Amino acid sequence: MENLRLEVAEQIALVTIDRPRALNALNSATLRELNDCLRELEQRKDVRVILLTGGGEKSFVAGADISEMVNATPAEGRAMALLADEAFCRLENMPQVTIAAVNGYALGGGCEIAMACDIRIASENAKFAQPECGLGILPGFGGTQRLARLVGKGRAKELIFTCDRIDAQEAWRIGLVNKVVPQAELLDACRAMARRILKNGGYAVTLAKQAINAGLDTDLANGLKMEADAFALSFSTHDKKEGMTAFLEKRPAELTDF
Ligand code: CAA
Repeated sequence: MENLRLEVAEQIALVTIDRPRALNALNSATLRELNDCLRELEQRKDVRVILLTGGGEKSFVAGADISEMVNATPAEGRAMALLADEAFCRLENMPQVTIAAVNGYALGGGCEIAMACDIRIASENAKFAQPECGLGILPGFGGTQRLARLVGKGRAKELIFTCDRIDAQEAWRIGLVNKVVPQAELLDACRAMARRILKNGGYAVTLAKQAINAGLDTDLANGLKMEADAFALSFSTHDKKEGMTAFLEKRPAELTDF
């Protein structure tokens, strides 16, 4: 891979988007590499948490690649949006838990890729914005959809219409990020959260993730039905038997399903 780095250790994959000359902006080649990398990772049973970050200290992802879009036709613009949709929907629905380690600028497509992750942890220097309307376009990698779902319709409209850049604390205040930590501690904080997740039943976490994602795209009655189905499925697992037996026997559980 030319624009991505992948390292796997202790059930945690670290995917780094690394295009320093463009502050990790997403061009089509990077989106394709990301999609291929995620397709491979989603099959891996030895990976249960995926951390996504940007190379260098300044930028997570500075957006879609403007130099690629400047002369693009509407058809090419659509193709780019669909390419990103495929990669970001894959990211959103990975069986693994995904954590964006936002280590700097998360602008446009950078904010959008972070929002496709389950959890966002930002360093103190992170900056978020959807600057597309200032470029004469609109967020095209999911921003109009995922931002409103995360921070509410009013705040999403304000951010998208004004193109205001907000810092990590403000992103935390409005619920765009889960946590803010000093930059030097960012990956450690992500790994620490990953380890807390890894202690729990892997398959149960995946089922919970699927129920949350699917439930947010439907009404409450159907969401509750999907939850009941997932709950029933969890009763068929080794982890359910082991987790509950261990509790009753007052010993640590050995949860292994994924
Ligand atoms: N696309 C292409 N190149 C980019 C880029 C992008 N999104 N962001 C930065 N770069 C390039 C710059 O052109 C520059 O290249 P050169 O050295 O060859 O000139 C290099 O990265 C360094 O950038 P700057 O010199 O601008 O660095 P800075 O520290 O002064 O500013 C920044 C950093 C605030 C992130 C600024 O680069 C910036 O505003 N970038 C664009 C951010 C943006 O508008 N993103 C949204 C893109 S549109 C989008 O994402 C659509 C969508 O919905 C998917």
